[in-house]
Amino acid sequence: MRWAARRCRNFTNYLPDAISVIYTFSTSVVAPGDFSTLSQAWPRLQIVGLDMSDAYVRHARRHLGRWSRTRFVVGKAEAIPFPDSSQDAVTSIFLFHELPPKVRRSALRECARVLKPGGRLIIQDSLQRDDQKDYKGLLQLFPQNYHEPYYASYTKEDFGTLALACGLVHVRSVMAFVSKIMVFTKA
Ligand SMILES: C[S@@+](CC[C@H](N)C(=O)[O-])C[C@H]1O[C@@H](n2cnc3c(N)ncnc32)[C@H](O)[C@@H]1O
Repeated sequence: MRWAARRCRNFTNYLPDAISVIYTFSTSVVAPGDFSTLSQAWPRLQIVGLDMSDAYVRHARRHLGRWSRTRFVVGKAEAIPFPDSSQDAVTSIFLFHELPPKVRRSALRECARVLKPGGRLIIQDSLQRDDQKDYKGLLQLFPQNYHEPYYASYTKEDFGTLALACGLVHVRSVMAFVSKIMVFTKA
């Protein structure tokens, strides 16, 4: 199975069961595989893809414009351009390790703000420091080999505690190769 499809399947497993409308905040616009697979699996979903990069959003629109229920918005995770309690689910793929700690906290707060009560936040990102001891060395090397200035702090971050401070309850975490999926519900 392609990596993007596998990631999408991991994701959809954790969406709530009964959803009429899902708006998805995600940076997936640069990985069209994620969105197109999600749209194919759930063709009636209304999905919004959000990314701070104008170029990535234009690219996504070019490739995924045929999905009439999918639209794309340029915007920041720390200032999501949607009203309070307006979304059934919020997702994010490989965003949080890119953010400075302060922005990481603002982004989590924003995800919580736009979710409806009972709504679900699903974050997929890198494994963290103590998730799999066999990969510990790899996680330490990653920011040394690539320009990832906030990765080391991400690997130490306690998302359960941070999320709780925003009104999000940790439901479960599932490891998937070098990534993990963290699922939260808005109280
Ligand atoms: C590592 S890429 C992940 C892209 C895609 N989701 C994937 O899995 O292939 C990180 C993405 O986050 C976006 N990004 C970084 N900081 C952001 C922010 N503060 N708000 C919204 N998007 C941001 C970047 O423009 C980039 O598209």
